[in-house]
Amino acid sequence: MSMERRKIGILTGGGDCAGLNPAIKWAVKTALDARLAAERGTQFEVLGIYNGWEGLMYLDPAMPEDPQFVVPLTEELVRTWDRYGGTNLGSSRANPYNPKHDLSGVVLENIKNLGLDSLIVIGGEDTLGVASKLSSAGVGIVGIPKTIDKDLPGTDYTLGFETALNVIVECVDRLRTTAGSHRRVFVVETMGRHAGWLALEGGESSGAYIILIPECDFSIERVNDLILEGNRSGARYEIVIVAEGAKPEGCTEFVRSNRVDSFGHHTLGGVADFVAKAIEDGTGLETRSMVLSHLQRGGVPCAFDRRMGRYFGIAAADLVVDKDFGKMVAVTHGEICAIPLHQALGPPHLVNINTQYDTVRYNGRRTILGHRA
Ligand code: F6P
Repeated sequence: MSMERRKIGILTGGGDCAGLNPAIKWAVKTALDARLAAERGTQFEVLGIYNGWEGLMYLDPAMPEDPQFVVPLTEELVRTWDRYGGTNLGSSRANPYNPKHDLSGVVLENIKNLGLDSLIVIGGEDTLGVASKLSSAGVGIVGIPKTIDKDLPGTDYTLGFETALNVIVECVDRLRTTAGSHRRVFVVETMGRHAGWLALEGGESSGAYIILIPECDFSIERVNDLILEGNRSGARYEIVIVAEGAKPEGCTEFVRSNRVDSFGHHTLGGVADFVAKAIEDGTGLETRSMVLSHLQRGGVPCAFDRRMGRYFGIAAADLVVDKDFGKMVAVTHGEICAIPLHQALGPPHLVNINTQYDTVRYNGRRTILGHRA
C-alpha cells in the first residue's frame, strides 16, 4: 500500500510560558508515530518554525530550508522537551498583518513553498487571531490555547496558567516570612493583562488578605479600611495581590510606557507601587511592593501543564490527521474537545465579579453553594 505524505508546520507565538514544549513534543510524537502512521496510511513530516510568525515573515522564499528559521522535528529531537519551560522554537510578538508593514503575502508564499498542508499554531488571542486570518485565506490551521492570562473564551484552560499560579504561591510563601518578621504589608503585582484570573486564583491559593482585579475597580480608602481592620484584629503583616490591569475607581490602567507592540498593546505595570504608597500614606503601616513580572512565565512546567500540553498536542495532531481545520483544541468540563477558531477570538473570558469575587472584602468568593440574593 502506498503511503500518503503530508507536512505539518508548528510554531509558538506571543508571550512564552511553561507548557509550550510539552505541547510541541506530543503533537510531533503523535504525527510521527510509526504505529499510527501505518494505521492511517499517512506519513507525516513536521517542521518547526522559529520565533512565531517571524519565522514565516522573514524566511527567504528562495531558501526554504534556512536553519535560522526552520528546523525539521523528529521524535528523537523532541524526546525530552516536555521537561523544559519556555519554548524551544522561540517566540515573538511579530504580526504579519501589522497595518504599518503587512507581510501576510510573504507568509502565505512561504507556507506554500515549504509544502505545508497544515500549521499547528500555539498561542493566545494575538497569535490565534493571525491564524484565523490565514485560515480564511485557505491555510489548514489548528490552534492550541496558551496564555498565563487564561482569558481565551471557549476553553476552561490555557497552557501556562497553573505553572504561573505555582510561582505566585511560592513567592508569596517566601514573602510571608520576611513580612511577618518586619510587620510589613506587601503588595504583590501579578500579570494577566485585563483578566484577573492570575491575581484571583493566585491570591486564593496563597491565602492573600486582599486581591485586586481588573474586573472590579477598587477604592483605596476601602483597601486601607480593610488593612486597618486586619491590623486591629492582630495581624502582624498582610499580603495584598494586585493584578497589573487593576485600577483605582475613576482611573485608567497603569502602563509602563506609551510604546505599543505590533498588535497595539501597551505594557502594563506600576499599580503595585501606587497601592503600596497609598497604603503606607493612609494607614501609617510600613508597606513594600514586589512585581513578579516574568518570573510567572518562567521555570519548568508543573505536572498539570505537562499533562495538558500532552493532551492538547495529541488532540491537535488528531485534527490535522482528519483535516479538520479552522479549529482550536480546548477543554470544557474536563473533556478535551475542538471548537471553531473564531469562537476562541470572541470577547475575553474574564472573572465574573457577581459569582467569583467578593466586592466587599476584595477577595475570593466566600459563598460557593450558599444562597445568593
Ligand atoms: O499575555 C501574557 C503576558 O504575560 C501578560 O500577562 C503581560 O501583560 C504580557 O504578556 C507581558 O508581555 P511582554 O513579555 O511582551 O512584556
